[in-house]
Amino acid sequence: MTSLTLPPLRVASGNVRLPGSKSISNRMLLLAALAEGTTEIRDLLDSDDTRVMLAALRKVGVGVTALGGNAWRVDGCGGAFPVKDADLFMGNAGTAIRPLTAALALSGGHYRLSGVPRMHERPIGDLVDGLLQIGADVRYTGNPGFPPLAIHPATVKLAGPIRLRGDVSSQFLTALLMALPLTGQAAVIEMTTELISRPYIEITLNLMARFGVTVEREGWQRFTLAAGQRYRSPGVLHVEGDASAASYFLAAGAIGGGPVRVEGVGRDSIQGDVRFAEALAAMGASVEWGAQHIEARAPESGRLKAFDLDLNHIPDAAMTLAVAALFADGRCFLRNIASWRVKETDRIAAMATELRKLGATVEEGADYIAVSPASTLVPDTAIDTYDDHRMAMCFSLAALGGVPVTINDPHCVNKTFPDYFDAFAEITAPVIAIDGPSASGKGTVAERVAAALGYHYLDSGSLYRLTALAALRTGVALDGEAGVAALAAGLPASFEGGRILLAGDDVTDAIRTEEVSAGASKVAALPAVRAALLARQRAYRRFPGLVADGRDMGSVVFPAATAKVFLTASAAARAERRYKQLIGKGMPANMHALLQDLQERDARDAQRSVAPLRQCDDADLVDTTEMNIEAAVAAVMTIVARQRL
Ligand code: DC
Repeated sequence: MTSLTLPPLRVASGNVRLPGSKSISNRMLLLAALAEGTTEIRDLLDSDDTRVMLAALRKVGVGVTALGGNAWRVDGCGGAFPVKDADLFMGNAGTAIRPLTAALALSGGHYRLSGVPRMHERPIGDLVDGLLQIGADVRYTGNPGFPPLAIHPATVKLAGPIRLRGDVSSQFLTALLMALPLTGQAAVIEMTTELISRPYIEITLNLMARFGVTVEREGWQRFTLAAGQRYRSPGVLHVEGDASAASYFLAAGAIGGGPVRVEGVGRDSIQGDVRFAEALAAMGASVEWGAQHIEARAPESGRLKAFDLDLNHIPDAAMTLAVAALFADGRCFLRNIASWRVKETDRIAAMATELRKLGATVEEGADYIAVSPASTLVPDTAIDTYDDHRMAMCFSLAALGGVPVTINDPHCVNKTFPDYFDAFAEITAPVIAIDGPSASGKGTVAERVAAALGYHYLDSGSLYRLTALAALRTGVALDGEAGVAALAAGLPASFEGGRILLAGDDVTDAIRTEEVSAGASKVAALPAVRAALLARQRAYRRFPGLVADGRDMGSVVFPAATAKVFLTASAAARAERRYKQLIGKGMPANMHALLQDLQERDARDAQRSVAPLRQCDDADLVDTTEMNIEAAVAAVMTIVARQRL
């Protein structure tokens, strides 16, 4: 078993582009498969659970084609699945096995569905009961009430209302609703219990409507489908960001200062889990909503408040609140969450066990959990994740208590969010930004500070140099903003063991020539080039931390850097260093010309409209005029130590 140790973290801030929603992705895939016509689905989630759905659809004869960039084409069957005999492996994907069971039961074929051992412990009996009522032939081949299942052709007849339980999982209702149009008959579903997780039904109804099938709903009690409704492709669809995944980043913003902005869900979302942000607000966090984004930051008081909330409407995102409770000012109650017991693992038991390891006092009941935080978290705790992606993602937040936390089996996040820890690092990993004028020695100092701390190192200037070199080599005009920006966006560059490669070619020395330096200075003044390199630079923010060197690291690229240093020296001192460097290399040099050149460049850099050279208000000044390299490194290390990294 592998593990990932997160370093002690204190602050979280930045932007996160969310992966596509799992709930929407798998519903859209199935609806597109059953529909008449071809559907293009953009921003589909790429994860284990969507792969399970895609593989199953392929096996039953649906044409699914990757179009690149998470876009997929689905050639709908216009009704039941064409392949009439198949063995289907469902992994641990509840959003795949439940709706597929219903759709396959109405497809007139022989199908066998199975999954991982945990899937065989997750209930499906209520759905099967519903299907049996209309004459479907679905049999348990393992334990009654659970997968694996065998499905056979049957004549389906909708006489009276289908009576269905809704208190174990809302997915049973979702599954029936999505499959019933296959019968062509009018259908009524009556709930025999209270319906849990209602917002997920709203997602289902919303997506069915986009494919042309409407459901009449009387409260949460009775659902009616008129006869003769068929799914028709709406053409191109777009999957919103995953609102459940948003919860980890929003919570990080509330715990670690913020602001943290998630992009891809907002006020207009159809996912109930966006209401997690309201729960965070109830804890005192400040939350701002946009149409397509949500942003969270810590309460004014600095401390999150204890809460007592019914969380039945956001069962998945509620897990994030259980871990956020570690940072609250008192005992927190999470109520009406019985469905946790039948998810990827028994989430109430798992959550209680792992929170206790961190020092919290936890009380668990059949359908609630109460968390009393300890004053400090137990450091170096190893968290077990129970093959549950949400356990892994939730508990990453504990590191924001300033303690190292180990996540066992972190790859379980592949279920819904394969890049989760990279995204988490991009808002939490400590960053030391070292800005400063040319020839201030910041490159050397930054590299040594990174080595001393065991951090990653970003030489942002090399990215501008690489862009210029790539332009020179491919004949792209250096002042052609769009062309150079396109090059910068797809720069085939990599850094390996101190060498810099461009398309596999070692260009470590080639990017230091006068021609490339002059070119870099030109392309660095183009706003589109700077924008194209922004995301790439931010992606260097990784655990355990990053030292970033360049003139706008603290001002633009990492404005919320943990420590900011403005490294400078008098123009005379810098000219002298450059002079010695050149003479040392046996090159001609003129002290007076060098000084004049530097002074002119400083003036240009300070005045340029794009990313001008300036010292941020919150940066510490290190003037190295009278310092050697060792002294400059020591001065930066003192500043870093003050931040308690
Ligand atoms: O630091 P350097 O000399 O390698 O930088 C190369 C060029 O890129 C130089 O003209 C400054 C510019 N640059 C920039 O504008 N912003 C950065 N963050 C880094 C470098």
